[in-house]
Amino acid sequence: MENRETGDMSPVLFGIEGNVGVITVNRPRQLNALNREVLENLRAVLEEASSNDVLRVLIITGAGSKAFVAGADIVEMAGMDAGEAKAFAEFGQSVFDAVENCPKPVIAAVNGYALGGGCELALACDIRIAAENARFGQPEVGLGIIPGFGGTQRLARLLGKAAAMDMILTGRAVGAEEALRMGLVSKVVPEGQALSEALAVASEISKKSPYAVGQAKKAISEGLLGALKDGLRLERELFAGCFSHPDREEGMRAFLEKRKAEF
Ligand code: COA
Repeated sequence: MENRETGDMSPVLFGIEGNVGVITVNRPRQLNALNREVLENLRAVLEEASSNDVLRVLIITGAGSKAFVAGADIVEMAGMDAGEAKAFAEFGQSVFDAVENCPKPVIAAVNGYALGGGCELALACDIRIAAENARFGQPEVGLGIIPGFGGTQRLARLLGKAAAMDMILTGRAVGAEEALRMGLVSKVVPEGQALSEALAVASEISKKSPYAVGQAKKAISEGLLGALKDGLRLERELFAGCFSHPDREEGMRAFLEKRKAEF
């Protein structure tokens, strides 16, 4: 199953497949470019999905086969002054922070262009699955600006300084195979299959303890923000916390009883 062309005019669609929430940026004629309206809708959908107890994993994708998201809306940005640009970046960063800090894992199913804000949205997700036609890039310097929705920070943290400098200073886009080699994506699948593969990964995650999955995400994401010793302290606190949760009892009892755990 790939992106649905539902004819729905909502700028962000939200569908539920079992216990997986699928969020689709839905502006295919503008290659899903992010204007304020899309970002506001994305934030509202994220809030709804984050607090839905049925959902264990979220997927973000783009409508149509051509683009995940081709960036922040250049038409909108062309009319901004510095003050408006600052507010736009603050807002965009807050929405992408909400993706990163979502208590549930978020998978980006990248179908086509993930440029500028699209690359930054994918970077805010926990796992990235790319279709063969995916292209990742931060072309902002060619527009006389720099990434403003987290790209300079998340790309450098994910890939290291050298790769982030290469991509951001040249503005060059990398294809799916290069993105895989760089560690930017975890899997490349044939065109049209990014969403179905993301659903398969989501299904694997959904079988595990939702509590443990959430704590593991927190340990990795928050641990990376500070020094190793602080990350290790956080890890052992969260590890210990799992022992007070019923999922630990079910998980270990199921192993000892040689059956599948049911969370
Ligand atoms: N903001 C606003 N509109 C955008 C957009 C963006 N970031 N990216 C694409 N669009 C619009 C195009 O203007 C075009 O609209 P039109 O039909 O009204 O002219 C439509 O989406 C289709 O794009 P088009 O450029 O015709 O498709 P293409 O296949 O020739 O090229 C891209 C695809 C992605 C290479 C090209 O659209 C592009 O470079 N987009 C901008 C990418 C970018 O710089 N993003 C970072 C922004 S900070």
